[in-house]
Amino acid sequence: MVCVSAWALTDKQYSDVESRIQPAGKVCLQGDSSCGAAMASAGGAPKSGEDVYKSSCQGCHASGAGGAPKLGDAADWAARTEKGIEQVYSHAINGFSNIGMMPAKGLCMSCSDEEVMAAVDYMIEHSK
Ligand code: HEC
Repeated sequence: MVCVSAWALTDKQYSDVESRIQPAGKVCLQGDSSCGAAMASAGGAPKSGEDVYKSSCQGCHASGAGGAPKLGDAADWAARTEKGIEQVYSHAINGFSNIGMMPAKGLCMSCSDEEVMAAVDYMIEHSK
């Protein structure tokens, strides 16, 4: 999001600024589909898998801390998903411990089961 304070600029300066900030500074208008995800999560809709991952899972899963399957490591994740995605979801929701300690819902107690599953999907999707 770009916030341009234009009150002190002449029209010429303003249009100069405007042309410099495009397209990187393209304004995200409400209802515009390109800003849909960011807007939706602000309104109490479910958090996206990416949001949940970033706030609750990456602490362990970005580095592979404690034996956590690492984001981006296809082999790590293949070894997990081969036993079936339902099991993987349920381990993420309920927690489990085999070689390390996966806390229930990654300690995101305000997350719904669906949000935790979306975070699992996000990690798997980014580990191919
Ligand atoms: C405190 C560290 C930590 C956090 C936070 C964490 N995990 Fe984990 N996670 C682990 C560890 C360690 C394992 C591996 C456990 C094992 O194999 O014994 C694991 C394993 C998993 C697995 C594999 C399950 C399986 O069946 O093999 C999934 C899926 C998973 N985590 C999802 C998540 C999600 C989603 C979040 C965030 C909502 C999250 N984790 C947050 C440490 C963490």
